[in-house]
Amino acid sequence: MKYYNLVMTEEISEVKLPFEEKIKTKGWTYVSPKKYLELHKETLKDGFWLSLAQKLDWFKKPTIEKTEEKRFFWKWFPDGVLNMSYLCLDSNLKTRKNKVAFFWLGEDGKEKVMTYGDYYRLVNRLAYALYHKFGIRKGDAVSVYMPLIPETPAVLLALARIGAVFSVVFSGFSSQALHDRIIDSKSKLLITADGYYRRGKKILLQENVRNAIHNTDIQNILVFRRLGEGWEKGEKESFSDEILDDTSPSIYFEPEKVESSHPLFILYTSGTTGKPKGILHDTGGYAVLLYATMKWVFDASEDDVFWCTADVGWITGHSYVVFGPMMLGLTSVMYEGVPDYPHPGIWWEIIERYGVSIFYTSPTAIRMLMKYPDEYVKRYDLSSLRLLHSVGEPINPEAWTWFFEYVGGKRCPVGSTWWMTETGGVIISHTPGWKLVPLKSGTNAFPIPGCSVSVLRADGTPADAGERGFLVIDNPFPGMLLTIYGDDKRYVDTYWSRFEGKFYAGDYAIKDEDGYIWVLGRADEVIKIAGHRIGTYEIESSLVGYEGVVEAAVAGVPDEVKGEVPVAFVVLKEGVSPSQELKQKLINIVRNSVGAVAVPKDIFFVSKLPKTRSGKIMRRLMKAVFVGKELGDVSTLEDEATIDEVSKAFYEFKEELKSRSSE
Ligand code: WT7
Repeated sequence: MKYYNLVMTEEISEVKLPFEEKIKTKGWTYVSPKKYLELHKETLKDGFWLSLAQKLDWFKKPTIEKTEEKRFFWKWFPDGVLNMSYLCLDSNLKTRKNKVAFFWLGEDGKEKVMTYGDYYRLVNRLAYALYHKFGIRKGDAVSVYMPLIPETPAVLLALARIGAVFSVVFSGFSSQALHDRIIDSKSKLLITADGYYRRGKKILLQENVRNAIHNTDIQNILVFRRLGEGWEKGEKESFSDEILDDTSPSIYFEPEKVESSHPLFILYTSGTTGKPKGILHDTGGYAVLLYATMKWVFDASEDDVFWCTADVGWITGHSYVVFGPMMLGLTSVMYEGVPDYPHPGIWWEIIERYGVSIFYTSPTAIRMLMKYPDEYVKRYDLSSLRLLHSVGEPINPEAWTWFFEYVGGKRCPVGSTWWMTETGGVIISHTPGWKLVPLKSGTNAFPIPGCSVSVLRADGTPADAGERGFLVIDNPFPGMLLTIYGDDKRYVDTYWSRFEGKFYAGDYAIKDEDGYIWVLGRADEVIKIAGHRIGTYEIESSLVGYEGVVEAAVAGVPDEVKGEVPVAFVVLKEGVSPSQELKQKLINIVRNSVGAVAVPKDIFFVSKLPKTRSGKIMRRLMKAVFVGKELGDVSTLEDEATIDEVSKAFYEFKEELKSRSSE
């Protein structure tokens, strides 16, 4: 592991810096870990968040920090009144009307530059049309199945302006996944686009949409044109240009004044069992956490050019492509394509082209790009960069070091921000905009001000320094989910019951001797594929949906680029024989029912799955056998199983796999 000192050009051997110092050129305050924790303690007092909340442009400023309506259901800033669209647009009009909000670049080289004024006008017209043409009202749920096009932020802001609740479904998800989310959210309107470019190919969305809306309450579909082809207008469908043509370009739609805890959006994410859960977020708490983290974590200020490479279909896209940067009136970049298309230097070219200063991406993207010759990154002038962060999965020291050295030129702090769909914004991170502790390659560092986290043993006692345990957030915080949409009980069971009264994240973590947090990965049956969260259960249910399959188990195994990828172990019905064609068929089934992100790297046909006496599938054991571990490393993996059970299962499964792979 590498440590870096204050000016971050020299490697150092330890991090116990005794001093606190302001780096003149950057205005950052460097502190030792010990000092950080001292200052951090001060922020954990009641009233800290309430005073911070005053910085936002509320219609009515809150005077109460939070109330607990019933056990585990908090309302943040309950007497505050605001509107997210107002914060992102109206509040910026006075000083930033003609400031660029987004430089948008299509994969085909098409460019669109949109100012805050442009968004303000578009959002007002859209909100007017959604209200009058489609009858959308405060509290209505609307599904949004859109790729990263310049209009996507406007759609979310228009819905927020009305007080409607949007549910974005990642445009790479299958029609089945879209269907399930439309049903669960009870949406009557679907907003989508005709398609987008992916690696030079036109991806059309019409078929997915048409298949998804059968047997749902969808009454209208609003289509934005990105490609300008591939969508035959049908019943219930309108193109955005038609409905916008009916509105005056200077129309004003008054933003709905909503209370702080009014829901802003639902975002579905995978859990351990069952269908994905709808994570429901409020407005005021979420806005305050985003405002605070834009300052502390990203150190964002007026002249910055911000680029978060996430897709709007994930929480990172909601928080740090759309709402965080727009609330602060920043100029941002949006790129439609993948990191290495049309060429492996495209991201670096974009950084040079727009002078990006704050860059936020994923370890998977970094690992993918570092495999190309260094020439691709050296060719571009990246001197505008001043701060780098990653998110979504642990970043390995090699990827961290490459990012730090080649992209950041050893000038820029590199952090790994830990958070989840459920937390709404960053919770554990380096915080250069507040106090900056020395960097370590791959750590998540410390909780942000106002939040406290712990690493606990299974029995709830704190783990020792260096001992692996479960990550919890000790206290409620603004930005946290309101509940799981339509399932309060699952909300309490999932997050607040594993360790009574603490927010259970579902991750393994270590706190090191300096107090730095290192999140190691999921402690449950969820895997992170290229940073995307997929429940093994979802892949398994789609596999067993095929009539020839009796049982299936999926495990995440390490992958050099994507971090983890799924492999599937499948038991076939008597009389059904394994074949390459069958494998392909099953892969297509997963693609169609979950989406391309979830497609297994390989499928193994086995005669039975290793299970505990109580019938629980030993997924961790299967994974360990697959990656070639010894019994010694494996015996502690299965919580509920005895050593005998595990060792028997281990040898049997090993034999089985051996015989299968030689088939
Ligand atoms: C899970 C949450 C946060 C937005 C994107 C993911 C993992 C996330 C890190 C990080 C190690 C990380 C955790 C977490 N994770 N960031 N910096 N280091 N692990 O949101 O899809 O809800 O996934 O992602 O396992 O629980 P998400």
